[in-house]
Amino acid sequence: MVDSPLKVILMMAQSLDGVIAKHNTHFPDWTCARDKKMFKYITQKAGALIMGSQTYRIIGRPLPGRLNVVYTRHPEKLAGAENVLFTAKEPADLLSELKNKGYKEVILTGGSQINSLFIKAGLIDEILLTVAPKLFGSGLCLFSKPVEKDLSLISCQNLDADTLLLKYRILKGGKTV
Ligand SMILES: NC(=O)c1ccc[n+]([C@@H]2O[C@H](COP(=O)([O-])OP(=O)(O)OC[C@H]3O[C@@H](n4cnc5c(N)ncnc54)[C@H](OP(=O)(O)O)[C@@H]3O)[C@@H](O)[C@H]2O)c1
Repeated sequence: MVDSPLKVILMMAQSLDGVIAKHNTHFPDWTCARDKKMFKYITQKAGALIMGSQTYRIIGRPLPGRLNVVYTRHPEKLAGAENVLFTAKEPADLLSELKNKGYKEVILTGGSQINSLFIKAGLIDEILLTVAPKLFGSGLCLFSKPVEKDLSLISCQNLDADTLLLKYRILKGGKTV
């Protein structure tokens, strides 16, 4: 992992069998109420979140009260708003820009393609993973490309009776393809 200009926390939900979405238009509304509340609190506290254009399309609108950074090579095809920044910058350049704007940390929120872009650049510091009581059998994973990293568990807690919240730090080194 390289030194990140600011802290990047990947915040995602997955089924017990490791699926973040059944397909690339699957709306991520299948987590518990506490997970949704936590997502809002943590992303608003950070003030900025980063997502891919496919995730932005599915959400259908900018999330209020935070800067929505949306990765796309075709911003003209997407509806913007005051709190949306479309970008195709290298991740390190984007993070420097956000640091210069005063952000201390940023939440990376998927999908698989954008997660891979940042892990390949060695720029994810922590993973906050909700494990939901679901099995989907097949679908998208956290990353769209092969990756191999070692992690250290920071904490593990229940969000409700059936849902776990795992927090991991990514250790330096490892491989991405
Ligand atoms: N379970 C969860 O926590 C969670 C969270 C988020 C999303 N999801 C799910 O993930 C799925 C979407 O994931 P996805 O992997 O298909 O799409 P994605 O990562 O959300 O977005 C992919 C798009 O990002 C843009 N992009 C990719 N690489 C780029 C680069 N180097 N520079 C500029 N733009 C780049 C491209 O947009 P253009 O084509 O516009 O150029 C590409 O089509 C959805 O089903 C969503 O519900 C799940």
